Amino acid sequence: MASKTVIALRISAVAAGLAIAAPAAAQFQKPEDAVKYRQSAFTVMSNHMGRLAAMAKGERPFDAAAAQASARVIETMARLPWEAFVPATEGLKSGAKPALYQNLADVRTLADRLNGETGKLRGSVGDLDALRKQLGATGAACKACHDKYRVM
Ligand code: HEC
Repeated sequence: MASKTVIALRISAVAAGLAIAAPAAAQFQKPEDAVKYRQSAFTVMSNHMGRLAAMAKGERPFDAAAAQASARVIETMARLPWEAFVPATEGLKSGAKPALYQNLADVRTLADRLNGETGKLRGSVGDLDALRKQLGATGAACKACHDKYRVM
């Protein structure tokens, strides 16, 4: 028992040392992990945009609590993909156009625009008309970046 505890303590000490030593840019073990991470965030975000769109179009009954939950997920997911567009992923197969890596400042601006819209989206979900309007503005922020930097 005692030796197991010692081993566990050693392992956690090593893990803590690694975490402290790792530079901020090295959040991903392999470039492939960064691609998977950003695509996963987009996938979850898109799923919840779809749920809100179904309410906006009247395909699903409007449910303010469910809309609020989706808007929260969207706002959180919308913060995640950007740090994963690291240069090491440039040569990998993904939906990112090569131009993206040459225009990271512009990508950041477009990401900030999305983050602004998703914040407003969370504020709009209490009212179906407001939700419809803000969903449109949010979708436009998605499209503005996809038109430039996503392989269709
Ligand atoms: C600032 C740029 C930018 C914004 C804003 C943006 N996207 Fe994307 N999106 C991309 C890029 C680049 C890719 C390709 C990523 C890859 O394959 O690594 C992508 C990929 C995706 C994918 C495919 C993920 C996969 O599994 O391959 C979906 C779905 C998606 N975006 C949805 C959205 C939605 C919905 C929004 C708005 C709520 C949005 N995106 C906003 C740049 C953006």
